[in-house]
Amino acid sequence: MIVAVTRAVSPALAECELTHLARDPIDVAKAIADHERYEAALRLLGARVVRAPEEPALPDAVFVEDTALVLDEVAVITRPGAPSRRPESESMVKVLSAYRSLQRIRPPGTLDGGDVLAVGRTIYVGLSSRTNHNGLAQLETLLREWGYEVIPVPVTGCLHLKSAVTQVADNLLLINAHWVRPECFASIDIMTVAPSEPAGANALRIGTAVIYPSHHPETAERLDRAGVRVVPVPCIELAKAEGGVTCCSVVFEAEP
Ligand code: GLY
Repeated sequence: MIVAVTRAVSPALAECELTHLARDPIDVAKAIADHERYEAALRLLGARVVRAPEEPALPDAVFVEDTALVLDEVAVITRPGAPSRRPESESMVKVLSAYRSLQRIRPPGTLDGGDVLAVGRTIYVGLSSRTNHNGLAQLETLLREWGYEVIPVPVTGCLHLKSAVTQVADNLLLINAHWVRPECFASIDIMTVAPSEPAGANALRIGTAVIYPSHHPETAERLDRAGVRVVPVPCIELAKAEGGVTCCSVVFEAEP
């Protein structure tokens, strides 16, 4: 069974953290409606959607990906780089402890789940404004016993590693090569985003399909031509909050 942990959009979403975007008014009602379409897309692709407790006072709480990394063997509760986001992690502990044993990133380490791209047994970790060397080193130590290789990747020009690169098929990454260097992913095939869609590298892979923003049609066309099934979702309002489709869920396999 595929589980997708999500969380309701906070009514305070418009007060979210921002790093590389200027603040633009957010229609929270539309963000809520779009988020419901996103959850419907997860269900369409066979995921069981499990909602984490609401956090109405935490503007970025819908972006659950940043609070945890779930692998087959363990869940790592992160310590988000933005102090305002650290209270989001506690409620994820209760949700994820039903599925995995838990480990934690501890001070002075910081790690956002959006900076973690797992490709098989290789874990790429973005060194961004949110994830520091100490957080990366802690993750490497925690995962060593299961044989994961942790590879640091410098990120510039965007919030997270997965703003710049995501996996869209078994051996295929979708990349904005201005934000992350393709050479960091040596043995994997690369597809670049359409030049007019620099924020188009964030796709959420579920099985053989990807949930993908409907406001990036040219990159969607590239994915389609490469044989990737694209399930489009509207998510412009969440994008104004610097959130992508991966940010809004934590997806993993679990026993039924
Ligand atoms: N607003 C998403 C973030 O900055 O973490």
